[in-house]
Amino acid sequence: MCGIVGYIGPKKAAPILFDGLEKLEYRGYDSAGIAVLENNELVVEKKQGRLKGLEDVVGDKFSANIGIGHTRWATHGKPSDVNSHPHQDSTGNIAVVHNGIIENYLKLKEMLIEKGHDFKSETDTEVVPHLIEQYYKGDLLEAVKAAVKELHGAYALVVTHKESPDTLICVRKDSPLVIGLGEGENFIASDIPAIIQYTRKTIILDDNEIAVITKDKVEIMDKEGNIIDKNIMNVDWDAVAAEKDGYPHFMLKEIHEQPTALRNTLKDRIIGDTVDLDNMNITADYLKDIKNISIVACGTAYNAGLVGKELIEGLLRIPVEVSVASEFRYRNPLVDDKTLVIVVSQSGETADTLAALRESKRRGSKVLAITNVKGSSVAREADFIFQTIAGPEIAVASTKAYSTMLLGFYLITLYFGQLLGKEMPKELYSGLKELPILADKIIIETEKQIESLIKPFEGWGDSFFIGRGLDWHVAEEGSLKLKEISYIHAEAYAAGELKHGTLALIEKDIPVIALATQKDVYEKTVSNIKEVKAREGYVIALAQEGDTEIGKSVDQVLAIPKVPSLLTPILTVLPLQIISYYVATSRGCDVDKPRNLAKSVTVE
Ligand code: F6R
Repeated sequence: MCGIVGYIGPKKAAPILFDGLEKLEYRGYDSAGIAVLENNELVVEKKQGRLKGLEDVVGDKFSANIGIGHTRWATHGKPSDVNSHPHQDSTGNIAVVHNGIIENYLKLKEMLIEKGHDFKSETDTEVVPHLIEQYYKGDLLEAVKAAVKELHGAYALVVTHKESPDTLICVRKDSPLVIGLGEGENFIASDIPAIIQYTRKTIILDDNEIAVITKDKVEIMDKEGNIIDKNIMNVDWDAVAAEKDGYPHFMLKEIHEQPTALRNTLKDRIIGDTVDLDNMNITADYLKDIKNISIVACGTAYNAGLVGKELIEGLLRIPVEVSVASEFRYRNPLVDDKTLVIVVSQSGETADTLAALRESKRRGSKVLAITNVKGSSVAREADFIFQTIAGPEIAVASTKAYSTMLLGFYLITLYFGQLLGKEMPKELYSGLKELPILADKIIIETEKQIESLIKPFEGWGDSFFIGRGLDWHVAEEGSLKLKEISYIHAEAYAAGELKHGTLALIEKDIPVIALATQKDVYEKTVSNIKEVKAREGYVIALAQEGDTEIGKSVDQVLAIPKVPSLLTPILTVLPLQIISYYVATSRGCDVDKPRNLAKSVTVE
């Protein structure tokens, strides 16, 4: 949460900072700010509200060649001009942007106030420039090094000082930071999309590393000042992949990118009737030795994990537990060296998931990461990696990351089955290869019917998603999508569980989406749908193509291309995403930046 950027070089800094912040707005958009060194003066402009508001105020009044910027997702202190970053010290010579949470800020603030420092905001961040001021004796690096030793919590920081007009200093612990290497210029950002149009050569800062950046040089050291030789990572994304490309929203673009994302994630991974994930480096001996699997993730990634559990338990008969990452490490989890922990994280930077990964390793488990971001913290710290090839996901609401995570679970399950010498259903291999084409088809079909599909939601503040088995888990994801972008309350229920309480909420015409694609529980699901219809709910059913019965029990049917029951989740989720998108836009919601949310949740 929060996005930070920095620039040093021969060009005007402000437009580059704004451009980078725009790409990072998905990380937070309560307020924005920049600090530049303009004619030897440190000038800060910051403002509550969207970046555009700040850009209008700043215009092109700065010609400075060095600066830092911030887009905020409020944690400590409400969104306001004064709580916006950059924050400064008492002298006004130092400016700092921060992503993370300084957990011991109250203690530090008290200590600094006692020493005469004057605070203006309610934020945790403001202690950082004051601490640096406290330690500053003419050497900015030494002051930053001393200050960060006192910080507890998570931080990615970029610091500028009026007396060091040729240098930016940045440091990270538990919040991401990437340095972009240019010719005679260098960039700093929380995430790659902010710098990809300028350079593909990047260095990913690791925890507790400090970088001293001038226009011609990047020097990276540990907290004691020992120089570290870092790898340069070449980013292979297309710059256009991080642009809207004609779509009104990133979310819609990303929904439409799913056939390609699935194709790319499948590529070279199924050969005939064999899944090849040998590059994960998991051995049959290791797998034979594990007793259980624990899947840990948040939000949409957690929902993907629920499907993963069904696949692994169903096909491999290995016990699987799925945990919400924010709960996992505080409940003394039952994992040890006989547990394979699978963490699932699109960004690879989610603080709760990262903490769960570390806790699992501390307890002796090996960790397999399913992640979309190469070089992310999760990718770097896991023992094994399955990389989804979804490309950058910018919209706050996850779409293509979810479907490719699901695909990851299918491939991993089949691969594990092969390693364990188990017979895997042959139709899954060919079925998986067909998914990209079928995904394309269902996206087109859903959009054709979209008006009638979203009409039932008009005027409603509540809705329900029901299903059994895998359908139930996809219903969870569908309800999350609708809630987060349209602000309509949506509950997902195991269809058979509805009558144990929630059926009391069903009233005339309330929208209910019922997924009925699972063959073995089909009749049962239809009975549950009838229970809803008996209370006059408005039911839209998602059923397999060729199902001529379901139409008699519901108000509308959307046909899902026929695939084996086990493979439906990747297809059924697509209409749910599309319905959510169009319901939200019809209500005038800002789908790419839903209220109170941010994409990459790097605080616990
Ligand atoms: C919802 C959504 C979130 C994320 C969650 C985990 O649409 O995007 O629920 O899935 O914050 O994020 P990652 O996968 O980056 O760990």
